[in-house]
Amino acid sequence: MPTPEKPILLRDLKNYLVFLKDYGYSDIPLQPDSILGSGSGKSNLSRPSTETTRQPIMTKTRTNAKPNLLLEEVREELGDCTRCNLHSTRKTIVFGSGNPHADLVFVGEGPGADEDEQGLPFVGRAGKKLTEIIEKGMKLNRERDTYICNIVKCRPPENRDPKPDEVTACNPFLIKQLQAIRPKAIVALGKPSASTLLGRTVPIMKERGTWHEYAGIPLMLTLHPAYLLRAYTLENRRNVMNDMNKVLAKLRE
Ligand code: URA
Repeated sequence: MPTPEKPILLRDLKNYLVFLKDYGYSDIPLQPDSILGSGSGKSNLSRPSTETTRQPIMTKTRTNAKPNLLLEEVREELGDCTRCNLHSTRKTIVFGSGNPHADLVFVGEGPGADEDEQGLPFVGRAGKKLTEIIEKGMKLNRERDTYICNIVKCRPPENRDPKPDEVTACNPFLIKQLQAIRPKAIVALGKPSASTLLGRTVPIMKERGTWHEYAGIPLMLTLHPAYLLRAYTLENRRNVMNDMNKVLAKLRE
């Protein structure tokens, strides 16, 4: 297996440390023999760059984590948020909806007009497409089996892309939502979501359908349902369904 590049390792490490700090850890919960495999902790720690060393550490963290942050506490902390300029044009904060204990979380970009009106994510045209993907395609129940949220909780005017400072202001709440839910898999819907979760600009057409990791949780990248509606080709629909089949397989593991 090729060794991941240093910037990718550093980014993953940073995400992981932020994740631990937010959980309340003040040191790193490594148990060299049981987590890192047969060798001494020291020798394994000196080469933390392979999937075989990284994966079990994350798994261990998830199962050994402190009693979980509650989603309602995250919502409470968000309050009547004025942390970025989007608050001045929004009607409603769209925090997220679905099962707070879901195995699967979809992360979109930001609320549109319908979502802003109703205070719920993915209730407009793109939302209907997402529901169809979940219910008809994956044979899951949207409310019972998934949780859905966005990288920003307030509607960007004219449905423009969220600006970097808006994403930065909202990001701690997305991180905490994901920590509170601790799903088995996350799906990033579209480029802004994938780029935010991975901390780099993601060429979504190239990287969709591939597994990544967000704070120890498997992360699948796929096309945004709004894009799918705009480019409603057989190829795009098949691609999204293939991506979702990979997610279903991961949930069954
Ligand atoms: N598009 C998104 O990315 N999120 C929503 O909630 C609705 C549309």
